[in-house]
Amino acid sequence: MSTEDNVTYWQQRWDKKLTGWHMRLVNPTITKHLETWLDGRKGCRIFFPLCGKSQDMIYMTMEGHSVVGLEGVQNAIDEFASENEFVMRPRHALAVPPALRGDFKVLDVIPTAAAPAAGSEAAESAPARLYAGAPGDVTVLFGDLFAYPTAATAEEQAALTAAGVGAQFDACFDRGSFVAIRPEKRAAYERVMRAAIAPGGRILLSYVIYDQSEMPGAPWAVSSADIHAAFTPEHWDVTIVEEIDPGQTSRFLKPNGGPLTSIRDGVALIVRK
Ligand SMILES: C[S@@+](CC[C@H](N)C(=O)[O-])C[C@H]1O[C@@H](n2cnc3c(N)ncnc32)[C@H](O)[C@@H]1O
Repeated sequence: MSTEDNVTYWQQRWDKKLTGWHMRLVNPTITKHLETWLDGRKGCRIFFPLCGKSQDMIYMTMEGHSVVGLEGVQNAIDEFASENEFVMRPRHALAVPPALRGDFKVLDVIPTAAAPAAGSEAAESAPARLYAGAPGDVTVLFGDLFAYPTAATAEEQAALTAAGVGAQFDACFDRGSFVAIRPEKRAAYERVMRAAIAPGGRILLSYVIYDQSEMPGAPWAVSSADIHAAFTPEHWDVTIVEEIDPGQTSRFLKPNGGPLTSIRDGVALIVRK
């Protein structure tokens, strides 16, 4: 499956509204592990690779951070805008780092309307918006993650950093991202992270552990060994934060109409050296 096919697959899922991963509320992994993830850091630049229309991006701006999401499907961006009353304003090409031009559109997210007063007629009929009118600092990179510039050597990394695309992020929230890509793309995914995350930058990565023979991805089954294999000690410190049984809630479990006998949720903290 080529990179293009990969985005095409997700485009079809958005077209058919097969977006069962989307959460209307902030992901509890963030609130539960915020301290572990950011270790008290303020004003972080946070990367959300394969961001979909995640509300988590808005939540983190309300926590005082700035956010860059990356998404390859237009529907996701359109729904993010319409459901939150945002305008996605394309940044002028001259204000986009040359290394991104051509492969990515940079969209600045502009809130358009103040939230209607609670209890007003407008509020009753408004679409459900958790963080209505949040004046957040969100930017979306529209394009294929695997087109993000990477570096093979320290010199190339320094050049990327100087060009404004390397080492840009202090933190990253990866939910539905590492598990969304095919296993053979994991090395390429790590190269993007290695280029984009600043030294000391902290990734909180949420993953699912299950028997791959019971279900094809996505989400793909990921083990702690897979994470250690992708994020090696040369560039990363990996800590498995938890691997827990979420109870019978998962839509992938047999009692809920899914194919899986069991599933566990994992969270890893991955720190760039
Ligand atoms: C499983 S969803 C997770 C979305 C989001 N992280 C969340 O938690 O709601 C994966 C998202 O990644 C996008 N995507 C998949 N492959 C991509 C690629 N190669 N480049 C950019 N976006 C991609 C899909 O369109 C989809 O919105």
